[in-house]
Amino acid sequence: MRRLDELDLPTFDHTDPELGGDSWHTRITELARSGWLARTPMATVVLDRGASEEILRSKSAIFPGREVADLFEIDSGPLREEIDRNIININGQDHQRLRSLVAPHFTPKAAESHRPWVADLFSGLLLAAMNSGEFEAVEELCKPYASRVICELIGGPPEDAHLLHDWSVWVQRQFDPIALANELATLEIKAAELQEWVKALMEYKRKSPSSDLTSTLIAIDAEGDKLSETEVENLIINVILGGIDTTQSQLAHAIRLFGEHPDQWQRLTENPTELVAAAAKEALRYEPVTPFTARLLTEDLEVSGVLFPADTLLLVCSFMANRDPTCFSQPDLFSPSSRTGDEGRMLTFGAGIHYCLGANLATVELEEAIRSLAENVERIELVPGSRFGNVSGIYSMDRLPVRLHSR
Ligand code: HEM
Repeated sequence: MRRLDELDLPTFDHTDPELGGDSWHTRITELARSGWLARTPMATVVLDRGASEEILRSKSAIFPGREVADLFEIDSGPLREEIDRNIININGQDHQRLRSLVAPHFTPKAAESHRPWVADLFSGLLLAAMNSGEFEAVEELCKPYASRVICELIGGPPEDAHLLHDWSVWVQRQFDPIALANELATLEIKAAELQEWVKALMEYKRKSPSSDLTSTLIAIDAEGDKLSETEVENLIINVILGGIDTTQSQLAHAIRLFGEHPDQWQRLTENPTELVAAAAKEALRYEPVTPFTARLLTEDLEVSGVLFPADTLLLVCSFMANRDPTCFSQPDLFSPSSRTGDEGRMLTFGAGIHYCLGANLATVELEEAIRSLAENVERIELVPGSRFGNVSGIYSMDRLPVRLHSR
């Protein structure tokens, strides 16, 4: 067995702002050709699917949210409170308890129950946007869709959806060292505003409960000592933070991918019933918006013959895991129509105890958006001016001008 520090590894900077679109695919694929590990200025990148899954499932590997906050001396205040209480930074029995209370509301069946109103929401946005000829799909479709779904789910007033979007983008930056170094004051303000908004929502739902997630969690709190008021508040905040820019970005990439692959779009429009689920799954596999998942080792860990010492920071690369040729045939091809459905599991939603809580809901959202597009749009024309986000956080499309040609 060899120690990590004895290995001569290629270097790679995942924060390079030039990485996006083709340059991102080319660079990471080339890197993976030289081996399954690489070094960034701060961490070690893991490019092999088996090793990635082993690390994500290991009890010795935690999400480093608190440690990053310590590094930036964020010791108190609303942002630190949020970081300490974020479910991603909680492990062991407390995590198990929180997940077991909230998970029943995110099962495949629960996600299925949201399908009709989610579909209506997207169709309404699509028809309004298509009336305006050429339009910017991130601003007019993907953002309002993702934020209104989460707002409706938690029982917030629809007119506040844009606020949730703004807070989710800002407070998510708690995971981004560059933002922590340069924009901490704004992050603190946004975290405080988000907390106040969720507290006010909870107060309202206590008086006027409904079937939404906030009322449901408040009812669990009222049953006894299973869930505290602060925990309800933080679970709602976690859903807002986890569920908006992720789905928004995944949908924007899906629209772009189908614009770039008109043959695949045609097949989909000819047979949406058969292909919609495969289309959503293939967009998630081919262009994961969470290309890197961070882990910090709490003790030495041996993986695939390499000893990773305690305190090693790892970046597990779902992009390469999703291209493992032993699981996916022709993995570099975007091809929903040729996926058989019995491929291996992709790592876009992570693995292990922190596996994405909203994976089923996100899948339903993507499926319904793609279905509505397939039923209404003959051709997706990508208009020049699109802009990719950075791959180091949630890999977004910052702009996606399109013209959608009606069927
Ligand atoms: C395409 C959309 C989405 C993607 C790609 C995605 C991806 C992920 C990934 C990779 C993780 C694991 C992070 C880690 O282990 O460090 C995660 C966790 C999480 N996601 Fe998602 N997510 C998406 C949508 C959603 C939605 C719609 C929700 C809303 C309910 C959500 C809520 C969460 C929460 C609360 C966690 C933390 C779970 C825990 O710590 O136990 N996500 N997500």
